[in-house]
Amino acid sequence: MKIAIIGGGPAGLYSAILLKKQRPEAEITVYERNRADDTFGFGVVFSDATLDNFEKYDPPSYRRITQEFAYWDDIAVHFRGTVHRVGGNGFCGCSRRKLLLILQERARELGVSLLFEADIDDEARFADAELIVLADGINSRFREKHIEHFQPEVDVRSNMFAWMGSTRPLDAFTFIFQETEWGPFIAHAYQYEAGRSTWIFETDPATFKRAGLEGLNEKQSADRMAKIFGWFLGGHQLLTNRSMWRNFPMIRSKRWVKDNMVLLGDAKATAHFSIGSGTKLAMEDAIALADAMHRAPSVEAALQQYEEGRREEVEKTQHAADVSLVWFEHVDRFWDFDPVQFAFGVMTRAKAITYDNLTLRAPDFVSEVDKAFAKQVRARGFDVDIAKPVAPMFQPLKLREMTLANRAVVSPMCMYSAKEGVPGDFHLVHYGSRAIGGAGLIFTEMTCVGRDARITPGCTGLWNDEQEAAWRRIVDFVHANSAAKICLQLGHAGRKGATKLMWDGMDRPLEEGGWDVISASPIPYFPDSEVPREMDRAAMDAVKAAFVQAAERGKRCGFDMLELHCAHGYLLASFISPLTNQRTDAYGGSLANRLRFPLEVFEALRAAWPAHKPMSVRISATDWAEGGITGDDAVVIARAFAEAGVDLVDVSTGQTVRDAQPVYGRMFQTPFSDQVRNEARVATMCVGNITTADQVNTILAAGRADLVALGRPHLVDPSFMLRAAAWYGADGVFCPPQYLPGKEQIFRNSVRDRQDFDDLKIKAKPKTRAELKAEATKPLAAE
Ligand SMILES: Cc1cc2nc3c(=O)[nH]c(=O)nc-3n(C[C@H](O)[C@H](O)[C@H](O)COP(=O)(O)OP(=O)(O)OC[C@H]3O[C@@H](n4cnc5c(N)ncnc54)[C@H](O)[C@@H]3O)c2cc1C
Ligand SMILES: Cc1cc2nc3c(=O)[nH]c(=O)nc-3n(C[C@H](O)[C@H](O)[C@H](O)COP(=O)(O)O)c2cc1C
Repeated sequence: MKIAIIGGGPAGLYSAILLKKQRPEAEITVYERNRADDTFGFGVVFSDATLDNFEKYDPPSYRRITQEFAYWDDIAVHFRGTVHRVGGNGFCGCSRRKLLLILQERARELGVSLLFEADIDDEARFADAELIVLADGINSRFREKHIEHFQPEVDVRSNMFAWMGSTRPLDAFTFIFQETEWGPFIAHAYQYEAGRSTWIFETDPATFKRAGLEGLNEKQSADRMAKIFGWFLGGHQLLTNRSMWRNFPMIRSKRWVKDNMVLLGDAKATAHFSIGSGTKLAMEDAIALADAMHRAPSVEAALQQYEEGRREEVEKTQHAADVSLVWFEHVDRFWDFDPVQFAFGVMTRAKAITYDNLTLRAPDFVSEVDKAFAKQVRARGFDVDIAKPVAPMFQPLKLREMTLANRAVVSPMCMYSAKEGVPGDFHLVHYGSRAIGGAGLIFTEMTCVGRDARITPGCTGLWNDEQEAAWRRIVDFVHANSAAKICLQLGHAGRKGATKLMWDGMDRPLEEGGWDVISASPIPYFPDSEVPREMDRAAMDAVKAAFVQAAERGKRCGFDMLELHCAHGYLLASFISPLTNQRTDAYGGSLANRLRFPLEVFEALRAAWPAHKPMSVRISATDWAEGGITGDDAVVIARAFAEAGVDLVDVSTGQTVRDAQPVYGRMFQTPFSDQVRNEARVATMCVGNITTADQVNTILAAGRADLVALGRPHLVDPSFMLRAAAWYGADGVFCPPQYLPGKEQIFRNSVRDRQDFDDLKIKAKPKTRAELKAEATKPLAAE
């Protein structure tokens, strides 16, 4: 078998090694345009898990690699004169040049032919090869040549970065966040061999310009960086090697395989340097390709298996890298944070590291985070314990005169079980049990302001006396039997009205018994949905009046808070999104115009609602669709409502148009809450696939939201909050006297359960290489 490999980087060389081991008879050639030791970059990083893989697949190169490596366990975050260190990270670094020399040597040993200074521009010369590996890096000529087939998507990120080196020794992966007269600079630095460290400098484009870096040569820009970070470099030099400033391209390719050609490493997909995964991904691609070639009966089947089997893992890493790079791009959002909260944000930015996970690894750090959080709460007038604070989710919050005992919220959820808008016994039990369960705040489902404002025939309403009495019964129960506050969510279904109950076909039009449907523009939700009537001014006045009347009823019911539903494609959302609002009058066109009617309704409600009670607005912070609302628009929307007197923005996303492409995942809407909170400077509630108390604490401690709502988790566990309180030992959480024996038991058992769980986690975690090395080099105690 003949195999041609274009590119002698980590992907090309490692695939040559693994394929040659598998097929010693194969004729494998690596074509590299550079000379053998002619390489850019300084160090590369691998996690312990990646090294485990290398050990399994090729022990000889693994051994040589690990002999040359520098290990570290800690991450250190320097910010505003402070440094926070967190251990247990298990990483190592090595020189890229040495790595390539080791791989070249190993490849040669096995009988791979290495041809240097061989710049390949046409695959036709490999017509006799059964497999062609395209490992030609980030600017892959072959990916571009077959662009129609591979369909790469290149997202050039806004921040500028430059890769440099230094002689400054480092004992931790080091992040330095440096304020300068031009704006913030970030250094990502780590040691990769004795006396050598990698330094990646990053800054936003405006700071880059203001700092005059544009047009400087390598040496001049290195001198500028050395000046900025001189206090840390301590006289050590910065070294350059093609260290030009550039923008990072996030590359994703729709296809990785064409005939017998396969893209590997950076050629097919990149991952931002802030998670240190470029070389790891390249070498793990080589492993996946070799595995597929081993298993599959033909090259064609192997390439298919490689692409199918590997894609999910690569996309997961890319997603983590995306989340991380966005954090760094918006670091100015957190610049005025308490340094320990800032450091917590750095650690938890990519979702893999959480509050509980850090509690195990760095309990003192988390205790400091908790204290800083408690201090902020105390600064708002609460007499909370600062010396031994409870976890963030158990800290109180005040909105106007309403005090919430904790930060966990039952998200608004339609039960589709009302009769003519009247909530019944089901609703009493549903809301009552969740209030007893300990959440600080309970939202009602979207409660409709008129019969024709309903989504479905099962929706609750608040337009007549019977409904008002039924809601008052529920509110009274909540107040009499729990510490929870209850918020009324008012809405109008708009073009999503007159549809079936959730379990009969969500958003599908009713076959009979429907009603008049209105919207900002006459665009049906599904092609076969009823075409809504475009609202004229008289219809707007009628809707506004209906909202105000419902709020008046809500006031009489004794609700603690009022939320205006402007999300999920319902009536008011249909005004805000340009995809559903095509009006040419004063209520269409610019975002300011599209916001006019929702703001008008909000202002009318604010005037009707008691001044001492808070109001929130729920928004879809993105439509997840081309041409729709984006996170940046959400900031403008939030500011507009804040100016109109909103106390909290409830940040949801999507559900506005049918062809949306949401990117789901754990806590997938939290970045929007983060953006709104820290750019518009308004309190937010986040929601969406948040399922554990650990996630709730992570979000709150990192300052990404002020409240966290859980919807589906509360459907199956009304006592979510009480369980969480038991887990964290926060016994201040409310429990009705009737249930106290249960509370005592779960609190007692949780102490032991948590201890067992932590012990198990610690036992199950293998020692990091840094720990093993430290043990091996520790002098023996004198006997
Ligand atoms: C300037 C720069 C500096 C970097 N520094 C670091 C660093 O210090 N640490 C780190 O972890 N990561 C670094 N990276 C990222 C990292 O190099 C990649 O993620 C990783 O090397 C990907 O491996 P690869 O084999 O896919 O591609 P590469 O390592 O880029 O290898 C591709 C190889 O293909 C060769 N090639 C390209 N076209 C042809 C052709 N037509 N014919 C023959 N040969 C060809 C190139 O010369 C190159 O050697 C850096 C990237 C850049 C752009
Ligand atoms: C059955 C059900 C009904 C819902 N009804 C409403 C509603 O009436 N108003 C609203 O704003 N959101 C509604 N939502 C959305 C939730 O409030 C929440 O934003 C969503 O479920 C994501 O959170 P989760 O992952 O915690 O469930 C509903 C969700 C579910 C599952």
